[in-house]
Amino acid sequence: MKSKTKNPWLQISAEDYEGHMSAPNVAQLQMLNKIFADVLNEFNAQSIAVLGCTTGNGFEHLVNKNIERVVGVDINPDYISICKNRFEKSLPQLELICADLNQLELQNSSLHLIHTALILVEPEELRGKAKKCGLEEVKNYKIKLESGKSFLVNKYVLKD
Ligand SMILES: C[S@@+](CC[C@H](N)C(=O)[O-])C[C@H]1O[C@@H](n2cnc3c(N)ncnc32)[C@H](O)[C@@H]1O
Repeated sequence: MKSKTKNPWLQISAEDYEGHMSAPNVAQLQMLNKIFADVLNEFNAQSIAVLGCTTGNGFEHLVNKNIERVVGVDINPDYISICKNRFEKSLPQLELICADLNQLELQNSSLHLIHTALILVEPEELRGKAKKCGLEEVKNYKIKLESGKSFLVNKYVLKD
């Protein structure tokens, strides 16, 4: 049964999100940005999807990388719109989709890498979507924060 509750992310403005996440005592935006840069260097993928892409944190690392396809998905239309404004010129191959990942089907897409960082979607749900695209999970980082909490970054890549 689908939940009728509105996704809480629809109520968080981009300004509040970025302000909080980049505050010096939080610094998660910076950490996620670095993780994304490392992922791009490690996998050298020709096509990539970023699920829960927000306003495009780290997308500057995709510029001039010779990546054929870049797909960004997020449920919040304001985040998508900001992401578009920031990157449509420097990343002409960028496809932005405003959708709820719980309902979006990714099968038949030509994707070599799916990056998901800090999004609240059931891991099994993500695994199922990646599998339909012929991707398998290769990395599942659990990052411990100073607060004692931890979060997950998953990566799915094309099988050899
Ligand atoms: C903490 S942010 C992700 C951080 C980002 N991946 C990064 O590396 O900076 C979580 C994002 O996931 C999005 N999100 C949460 N639930 C979602 C869903 N069900 N479908 C699509 N996007 C979702 C939110 O709108 C938000 O932009």
